[in-house]
Amino acid sequence: MRRSLVVGNWKMNGSKATAVSLLTGLKARLAELNAVDVCVCPPFLYLSDANAQLADSAIRFGAQDVSGNGQDNGAYTGEVSAAMLSDAGCEFAIVGHSERREYFAESADLLAKKVECLLAEKITPILCVGEKLDDRESGLEQQIVEGQLHEIVDRLGVQVFSQMVVAYEPVWAIGTGKTATPEQAQQMHAFIRGVVSKLDPVIADKLPLLYGGSVKPDNAKDLFAMQDIDGALVGGACLDVDSFSLIIKAKESV
Ligand code: 13P
Repeated sequence: MRRSLVVGNWKMNGSKATAVSLLTGLKARLAELNAVDVCVCPPFLYLSDANAQLADSAIRFGAQDVSGNGQDNGAYTGEVSAAMLSDAGCEFAIVGHSERREYFAESADLLAKKVECLLAEKITPILCVGEKLDDRESGLEQQIVEGQLHEIVDRLGVQVFSQMVVAYEPVWAIGTGKTATPEQAQQMHAFIRGVVSKLDPVIADKLPLLYGGSVKPDNAKDLFAMQDIDGALVGGACLDVDSFSLIIKAKESV
């Protein structure tokens, strides 16, 4: 049995007041979790609020990014290390989100370093992969995603995938309201598992694969019904207690 996981990526949204209200709302609504792990990823500034508010809750929390510049202290203005995330209580961190790849030009070398730093602190990296619209229209989606997986495998070896989560987020489905169909998502998830399986079938079989891109309460159940979709990485809908809770309930019910 693979682990089921629903992650909320808050992105750069909210304030201290809305963060606390979202955390307390989720804690109250999700007092019991049945066979689904839940994680929220607030902006760095509100991780201490997550730590305080979720102390006696089964909801976990993580970061949206991490520095790739080593594990310890250093002269890297503006960066947050994996050790600091661990100190703050993070169990997960998103790596290589398409918004970071695009707006911050994150290279394959940097992403691999981020994964290494997180694993050294026993934080689970959630590696995002996914193609852009023109890649899909040109039929290149599998080639792009395979390349993104190999960026990590070729540098760190397949073994790291035994301690990671992969999120397939087609860029054209993020924040657009245009979700991949369950069949499109399943096809890519099976492909991702196949790429890893060629290197290590046991690791591939256990690798949690999340789908992300306009996941909402009304499409979550059909996505979760797919064999290789083990959960979701939710953006917009995770900022609302009702919507995020309904998505989690949809995962519990399949
Ligand atoms: P949306 O759910 O808003 O499309 O965002 C998905 C995403 O990027 C999560 O990381």
